[in-house]
Amino acid sequence: MATVLLEGRGDLTEWREAARSLLLARTQPRTIDWRCRSDAAGDLFGPAAGVPEAPFAPAATVPAVTVPKAFLSLAQAVICHSDLLRFQLLYRVLFRLQEERTLLEVLSDADVAQLRAMEKSVRRDCHKMTAFVRFKEFDIAQGHARRRFLAWFEPDHHIVARVAPFFQRRFTDMDWIIATPKGTAAWDGEVLSVSTEPAENPMLSDSTDLLWRTYFSHIFNPARLKVKMMMTEMPKKYWKNLPEAELIPGLIAGAEASVIAMAERAASEAPLFHQRLQAIAQAEPEIVQPPAGTLEELREEARHCTRCALHCSATQTVFGEGPQDARIMIVGEQPGDQEDLAGRPFVGPAGAVFNTVAQEAGLDRKDTYVTNAVKHFKYEPRGKRRIHQKPNAGEVQHCKWWLTRELALVKPKLVVAMGSTALMALTDSRQRLSDLRGEMLQLGAGQSLLVTVHPAYLLRIPDEGRKHEEMARFRSDIARAAAFGRRTMADVRPHSATGDIRPSI
Ligand code: URA
Repeated sequence: MATVLLEGRGDLTEWREAARSLLLARTQPRTIDWRCRSDAAGDLFGPAAGVPEAPFAPAATVPAVTVPKAFLSLAQAVICHSDLLRFQLLYRVLFRLQEERTLLEVLSDADVAQLRAMEKSVRRDCHKMTAFVRFKEFDIAQGHARRRFLAWFEPDHHIVARVAPFFQRRFTDMDWIIATPKGTAAWDGEVLSVSTEPAENPMLSDSTDLLWRTYFSHIFNPARLKVKMMMTEMPKKYWKNLPEAELIPGLIAGAEASVIAMAERAASEAPLFHQRLQAIAQAEPEIVQPPAGTLEELREEARHCTRCALHCSATQTVFGEGPQDARIMIVGEQPGDQEDLAGRPFVGPAGAVFNTVAQEAGLDRKDTYVTNAVKHFKYEPRGKRRIHQKPNAGEVQHCKWWLTRELALVKPKLVVAMGSTALMALTDSRQRLSDLRGEMLQLGAGQSLLVTVHPAYLLRIPDEGRKHEEMARFRSDIARAAAFGRRTMADVRPHSATGDIRPSI
């Protein structure tokens, strides 16, 4: 029996060099005892007695060995598995592949099945890491040019190097370190560095813990609760590092009562249009005329809007709200069920997401003008419920009459279009939201446009991993808007990449 001792934790390059030399010498898999120094530290038995423990030295030049492409991609994943048997298994399959070229297609083969199971486990671990890493800000008062974040995560496998590029792409505009017991990754805006040294839990907590808890309690839908599926998506072993996890038992326990309360609160049919008008006329016999040329005057006018058919079934016009001298205007799609009843924009579930993220970013809603592209709730009655329907292009066109006037009176320095309806209303652009997302564009003279997704979209994403990813992007967009509000207009760069965005109103 020969021992092959890999020096590092046994990455693909190291294993491949060793395997290639062994293969060319036709060394039988069963005669090799694979070890690696980092794993040997915790190995109860150490290297086999009487077997020379020498680091493996690859031959200076060795001819290439060919393998099917699928094997390489499997090997890239399986080499990250924490089971020491990975080296042996990979070599055995590599050895067999020289004779059995289609071996990987034989799913019933025990080696292939084990290889695929290990790959799946690594893939799942990577996915969980992208979903459950929670950054905490540190060194806040130190005056660094970029914000700095630290996260602690406990992966099952050696996946840090594999997943680090995902975080580099996603969180490129901040410095971050992800520490784990299986190595650390760090990004400083220029260099992505990865080490395999085990780190210790820094035991940090910051105000984002509260944000995660607020966000989670808002997106938790008791009516859709499936405990088993939830536990598969968010296994308990990750809970200790997730600030929001402590809410889960309470939310599950209270789910039934919440569903009953939700059903009792469910919106009922709006009163018929003429009844509503009569009620308004009786309640306000004397309308005091607000000053001309003000938002108040416009709001009063909009209360009686009949420019399209949507006014017939909605309870009331939901006009924008916020100060007339706001630097930032947020434009959503249209009021939802709760906004229609309250007569105020963004007070329902999507509004809760927006408010939480805005608050975290330092964007004070009372300094911001918040409105919608369409001012009446469009819905389809289903039983006692009113189900949201997207406004069509004609309805958006009719309602632009109001949005144009709101823009002219408020004159915001920055308009944030949340979702494709707002984008269409503001620009008439045929471009996709995803192509313009997150860019600071020029809308009019001295006026910028930032395009992002609608918060209701975030609430609908079924996959937890993607939801967290998209949520992080949304937070970064809103943080950008908040930062813009604090800065001067000097660094607004004219939009050039997409050329044809022009104010259409
Ligand atoms: N969605 C919107 O676009 N606007 C609201 O006011 C509420 C939900």
